[in-house]
Amino acid sequence: MSDAIKAEKSMPDIIKTENPMPDVIKAENLAHSYAEDGHRSLDRLSLSVGQGEFLALLGRNGSGKTTLARHLNALLQVQQGELTVTYLNAKDPANVWRIREKTGMVFQNPENQFVSSVVEEDLAFGPRNFGVPEAEIPARVRRALEAVDMSGYEKRSAHLLSGGQKQRIAIAGVLAAEPDILIFDEVTSMLDPAGRKEVRDTIAGLHAKGKTIILISQDVGEAVGADRAAILHGGRLLAVGTPRELFTDPELLRRAGLTPPLPVRLYHDLRGRGIRLPYCPITCGELEELLCR
Ligand SMILES: Nc1ncnc2c1ncn2[C@@H]1O[C@H](COP(=O)(O)OP(=O)(O)OP(=O)(O)O)[C@@H](O)[C@H]1O
Ligand SMILES: [Mg+2]
Repeated sequence: MSDAIKAEKSMPDIIKTENPMPDVIKAENLAHSYAEDGHRSLDRLSLSVGQGEFLALLGRNGSGKTTLARHLNALLQVQQGELTVTYLNAKDPANVWRIREKTGMVFQNPENQFVSSVVEEDLAFGPRNFGVPEAEIPARVRRALEAVDMSGYEKRSAHLLSGGQKQRIAIAGVLAAEPDILIFDEVTSMLDPAGRKEVRDTIAGLHAKGKTIILISQDVGEAVGADRAAILHGGRLLAVGTPRELFTDPELLRRAGLTPPLPVRLYHDLRGRGIRLPYCPITCGELEELLCR
């Protein structure tokens, strides 16, 4: 049995990999039920995210990822437990607006996120909504477009862009409010491979510029570049650790209903046939390097 699963059987069920940065998000024993039947969509979940960290939040359908994300954006009120976001107590109603401004969230379908079909109007909406002075808005729009590498698209119709471009405009719409934390909730799942790469590169660029990133996905392969990964299962935190710690453990991923990245599957298939690679690769680059040796 893997260490991760042994840990899961005895509470608390966490692999500890300390993050070195101050906690910009700290959830302690967070619990949430949508229905009065008491079914917990989040169940005593404790998790911290460091300032500037790139955390992948993984789990199968219904594991509680979006429910957690909605708490981080103050879209859901804390029912039980403690939560601070951008160093503000999320239970204090006076902090809700500030948390929403400092935590931007991007969703699966960019079409649902546009408030105007003209790109610059769409990007102006967020900062205007948060009370940014009108004179400052054009600079906000310009910086947001630069950050997603779409300068020059100000006058274009958002609905007529490619899938990857639409999602980058949706990201720019969130960036225009200048949040510290960016949450991406399955933002590549509707895109073709080229669109996925565009959006993945955009997210990596934002992380490199110091934004705190939370990338929600069911695709473990999308999370290999994260600083840490957290796996949810039935509203609980099953494991947290580096991608290498978690993704090279097929038993842990199977338990979470997730598929290991291709290089990990191949490593184990080869082992089953008596071929042992020196270590378990998690990226195609690592696999290639091992095979070339
Ligand atoms: N608005 C809602 N009303 C009632 N139950 C809900 C609501 N939203 C989510 N749930 C339930 O809460 C649980 C967690 O759902 P959540 O959407 O957070 O999961 P998820 O991990 O984001 O799933 P997915 O991968 O499908 O997006 C599920 O059992 C779901 O049915
Ligand atoms: Mg979801």
